[in-house]
Amino acid sequence: MAITFTWLGHSAFQMDIDGHKVLVDPFLTGNPLAARKPEEVEAELILLSHAHGDHLGDTIAISQRTGAPVICNADMSYWFQAKNVEAHGQNTGGRGDYGFMTVKFTIAFHSSSFPDGAYGGNPNGFIVTAKESGQKLYFAGDTALFSDMRLIGEEGIDVAFLPIGDFFTMGIDDSIKAINLVQPRFVAPMHYNTFDLIAQDGGAWANRVSSETSATPIVLDPGGSFTVPDNH
Ligand code: NI
Ligand code: MN
Repeated sequence: MAITFTWLGHSAFQMDIDGHKVLVDPFLTGNPLAARKPEEVEAELILLSHAHGDHLGDTIAISQRTGAPVICNADMSYWFQAKNVEAHGQNTGGRGDYGFMTVKFTIAFHSSSFPDGAYGGNPNGFIVTAKESGQKLYFAGDTALFSDMRLIGEEGIDVAFLPIGDFFTMGIDDSIKAINLVQPRFVAPMHYNTFDLIAQDGGAWANRVSSETSATPIVLDPGGSFTVPDNH
């Protein structure tokens, strides 16, 4: 088995993890780059990095349709549970076991409040480990560059997902530094080109990744997919 991911625009990904469907930050309604409608995506679990509307997105509707529980920080889980949405509330540094994968919550330097103003806890990234294939993903969430990304790299990351849009998160220059700290085999950009404020040239970014880091850049069009080759 293997991991295949499909970029749905912004920080939204449809993942196939050893045959299991996982959604990350499913912001589709109102996302100008959205490659799927909320009623078209598949989910056994929904991973949320933080509570901002461009990540929370269509989570409630998708969870209600598919029955997929939400994996999020503890403070967000209380908000979901009050709406009768099943949520597993982890917190920073902890690892959760979901059968076919584990999810470890990492730090992220950003903020986190719900669109209704409710408290959304601290923002996070995740290290997802697929048990069968053994592959590891690092999804950084919305974050600034931080030097402890080096510790995340020590876990041996197959694919890193990093924001490159600037303004709300790190931009291209800091993403190159992040890649050199994490040292993933592959790196995919996210959180860019959705809005004018975060417009970036993905091709120019990829050229810099190729010349300034040891990672292979994976630049997808919205709706595009990549299957992670086996490393073993
Ligand atoms: Ni955000
Ligand atoms: Mn965001």
